[in-house]
Amino acid sequence: MTTLQSIDRTWMSVDDIYDELKARLGEYTPEFELHIKAELAYEINQLKLERNAVILGHNYMEPALFHSVPDFVGDSLDLSRKAAETDKDVIVFCGVRFMAETAKILNPTKTVLIPSLEAGCSLAASITADDVRSLKARFPGIPVVTYVNTYADVKAESDVCCTSGNAVAVAKALGADSFIFLPDEYLARNVARESGKRIIIPRKLPDGSLEVDTTEPYDMVGWGGRCEVHEQFSVRDIDAVRAQFPDVVILSHPECSPEVVAASDFSGSTNAMIRYVEKTTAPRYLLLTECSMGENVAAANPDKEMLRLCSIRCPHMNQITLEMTRDALKYMQYVTEVPEEIRVRAYRAVRRMLDIG
Ligand code: 13P
Ligand code: SF4
Repeated sequence: MTTLQSIDRTWMSVDDIYDELKARLGEYTPEFELHIKAELAYEINQLKLERNAVILGHNYMEPALFHSVPDFVGDSLDLSRKAAETDKDVIVFCGVRFMAETAKILNPTKTVLIPSLEAGCSLAASITADDVRSLKARFPGIPVVTYVNTYADVKAESDVCCTSGNAVAVAKALGADSFIFLPDEYLARNVARESGKRIIIPRKLPDGSLEVDTTEPYDMVGWGGRCEVHEQFSVRDIDAVRAQFPDVVILSHPECSPEVVAASDFSGSTNAMIRYVEKTTAPRYLLLTECSMGENVAAANPDKEMLRLCSIRCPHMNQITLEMTRDALKYMQYVTEVPEEIRVRAYRAVRRMLDIG
């Protein structure tokens, strides 16, 4: 069951949108910028009506976009549920390419648009369908769990997908003694830690073959993919912040290293972190995740202090702007396609994940 509520701003005038942006972001956004963004958002909301479109916005969208145009905002799991359920003709995915592909996999009769072709992901780029086939040949009969941060052809080689919001639940639901978990090394190590599993990480050699040490017992086989944003946080960062602010509550995304997750007070998907801030009453928080999300959480919780340890924007999420979202709807670009033979196989893995929860 999704908890996301639809946000309808199509009735709002430019001035209404400006007032909302001013209230949320006025403290640190120049006046002229708020005016430009409000005009763009108004144009987008009118185009959305004309095109009978829904806009899905990931929690990492830049604050002005996040607070002005999406019908739904959320993490990868909730947004893929929304993509599966929508009856609109057009889905505009303000996120990265693997998310738009997942929407197309789940709802193939709809036109799925991504505002920029540059919105990739270092995790999705870390593994190919050939790599998964090599792993399956090396570890025959072991089920494959694939993080949604992968492209459709990789999902098509998998038994089930997961997101950061349900990785442990999916791994449990498999009921298998051992499984392959791809491609994020840190997420895999965090799942292993939480479920008491022993993990090995094969290494891909320059000739494409796999080097793997199976002398020690193992229950999980991972891969060496990393999120270029989350791998940058360190325990030293945490120690420095705690030394200055002993009462800070530190939240980390499970794409951070196991050491960072262990040194945090809470770890969860982007939605889980947002809920944690909303439901608790600490004087200050530090979010170890993509920068814009900290800004979005701060804007939605003005009574709570968010510490900024933030010079790290995801270069892929950062591609998506209000201008490009407007152009996506104006020119119906860029259409996301998934070859049908790949889509039907990828669908099985994504559907199985959604059925697990
Ligand atoms: P969530 O599924 O937690 O929203 O994370 C997606 C992502 O890309 C994190 O870097
Ligand atoms: Fe990919 Fe990391 Fe960017 Fe998320 S934050 S889209 S995992 S590169």
